[in-house]
Order: sequence, then C-alpha cells, then structure tokens
Amino acid sequence: MDDVIAVDDGISADRALRLINRGSALLWTGDFQNAKQLLAALGRRVPAIRIGSFPNQRRRQAERVRVLNALLIPLADHRVPLRRAPDVRAACDQAYGPSGGERTVPLRELLGVIGAHQLRLRGVHVPALGDRIHPHYGVFAPTRSEYADLVAEQPLPAAGTAFDVGTGTGVLTAILARRGVRQLVATDNNPRAVACARSNLARLQVTATVLETDLFPPGTADLIVCNPPWIPAKPLTPLDQAVYDEDSRMLRDFLGKSREHLRPGGEVWLVMSDLAEHLGLRQPDEIPLLARTAGLTLSGRRHVSPHHTRARAQETTSLWRLT
Ligand SMILES: C[S@@+](CC[C@H](N)C(=O)[O-])C[C@H]1O[C@@H](n2cnc3c(N)ncnc32)[C@H](O)[C@@H]1O
Repeated sequence: MDDVIAVDDGISADRALRLINRGSALLWTGDFQNAKQLLAALGRRVPAIRIGSFPNQRRRQAERVRVLNALLIPLADHRVPLRRAPDVRAACDQAYGPSGGERTVPLRELLGVIGAHQLRLRGVHVPALGDRIHPHYGVFAPTRSEYADLVAEQPLPAAGTAFDVGTGTGVLTAILARRGVRQLVATDNNPRAVACARSNLARLQVTATVLETDLFPPGTADLIVCNPPWIPAKPLTPLDQAVYDEDSRMLRDFLGKSREHLRPGGEVWLVMSDLAEHLGLRQPDEIPLLARTAGLTLSGRRHVSPHHTRARAQETTSLWRLT
C-alpha cells in the first residue's frame, strides 16, 4: 500500500473501493460494527466466483483478498480502541502470541482470528474418533469428516509403528491410536499445527511424538499416513498452505521418499480428494504414476463422496493404499 488514510462511518463503500484501487489502505477510526458492514459491502463489489477457469477464479480471489485486506483496524495490546468493538484479547493472544503494543491488522484477518478462537473453544466433533478436535488458528480443521472415516475403516496392516505426515490438528494420529497403533510419530512443518496436535493428543490422552519437520521423521514405520494439501496451486495467504501445494511439491516429495521410510510389508495410506482433477489441475493417472515411479505398488483404493456443502458434484475422496 502506498499510503494509509484514516476513515470513519462517513465513507461510502464506492469511495472506499476507489481509494483502495488507487493504492491506499484505510485505517478505520469509526464504529467497529460499521467497519464490518463496510467490509461486507466491499466484498459484494469484488465477489468470489466459482465458475470459469481455475486460474481466472484464483486471479479474482487474489484481487478480492487485496481489496478486503486494505481495510485496517487498530490494535493496542490486543484491544480494539473503537466504539462497539468486541473483546478480542483472548483470540489475539492465541493467534498472535503474547500481546505486543500498537499495530494495525486487516479487519478481515481479525474476523478470522475471532472465528478461529470460537472454533477452538467449541471444537469439531469427528465421528470417526467419537470425540472432539480443537483446531488452532491457522491449522487445517477436520470439518470434512469423510477422510477421517476412510482412515478409521481401512483394514490395518500389522502396524506397530505409524507415521502421520502433515498431522495438522493430530486427528489422524488420534484415530490410529484409538485403533490400537502403539507407536505414533506425527510431523508437520507448520509450528501452529505442531502445537495444536500436541494439545489435542494430550487432551485425548494419546501418547505420540509430534515433530516440527519437513515431511518424515527419522526412521521407518509399518504404516505411513498422509493427507496432503489437495490443490496444486500457489497459496494466496499463509493460511492457504494447508490446502494449496504449489506444483504438488509435498505430494511428489512424500511419494518420492516414502519407500525409504517404509518397513518391509508396510503400507502407505495417501488420502486425497480428486477436486484438483475436476478443476483441471491434475491428470487422473498422476498419483498411480508418481507412486510407480517411487517404487510403490498400488494395492487398493477406497473412496467416498464428501457430503459437505462446498463439495463439487462427482467429487470423491480416496484412500490410496500403496505397498
Ligand atoms: C490437508 S492438511 C491435513 C491435516 C491433517 N492430517 C488432517 O487430516 O486433518 C495438510 C497438512 O500438511 C502440512 N504440510 C504441508 N506441507 C508439509 C511438509 N512439507 N511437511 C510436513 N507437513 C506439511 C500442513 O501444514 C497441513 O497441516
């Protein structure tokens, strides 16, 4: 942003959009609830689209993020010094760490921080676990439960040791523990996910090692489970990184290195939606090809249709069993 202009309740959405498109950020000094209304009005002027080519949809989404992130809110020691502002201290402490001085944040981000705090308090019921998982801010939440069902229902190999690569909230590690796997090592390269998985697993009384690392922990396992980010495209924000995997880097590296971490007779369970195929971003034979190149044999595939509201027609989520 070239400059920051202080604005308040008197500004119209059209004028706000003109200022943003000229390169300004808008620092809100009015009523907090009115700022939310302005954000909603800006959102209607740069709507998200779900039709047309995927690159076009992403361009529009990037434009939307740029516009909406230009509306800033002041924060002073994690308090919002505005009329009718909610108490955001607990939510900000969780998302940003111990409070720190005066700063500004995009209102859109702050609303995400508040929503994440509520989700963390409430938790997500995961039927396959028969328990709740409490996602932290910036960690992939298991609100789509069908992939967890696949991991809960797939017959287990003789699995003394299992790795859960890219563990997120720790949900799949917890399911494997409930199924009787005794030695569990979970990894994630996102420190927020590592903290979240540790806290969920402790609450569920699951004994597992959780490591912050790229892909695999040291050593070998009888079972390696991975639910990688499903969409091979560039993340637009840091929070996108659990969903977007540019050039399928994680998928390729995971499959490419799995064999050296797999014990004889062991299995890799790769959980993937075919959403990327429906978006024209991945060929249907890409996973079998990558697996074969990595020296793995495709021994089975189970799939389910997701039932969440944003699922595409014909979208399926698969558990690929590789040996
Ligand atoms: C789709 S989420 C799945 C999370 C969790 N396993 C689940 O099923 O809910 C993908 C996870 O992979 C992690 N991840 C992405 N790249 C990674 C890498 N190179 N090494 C370790 N973890 C990675 C992300 O941080 C994210 O938590």
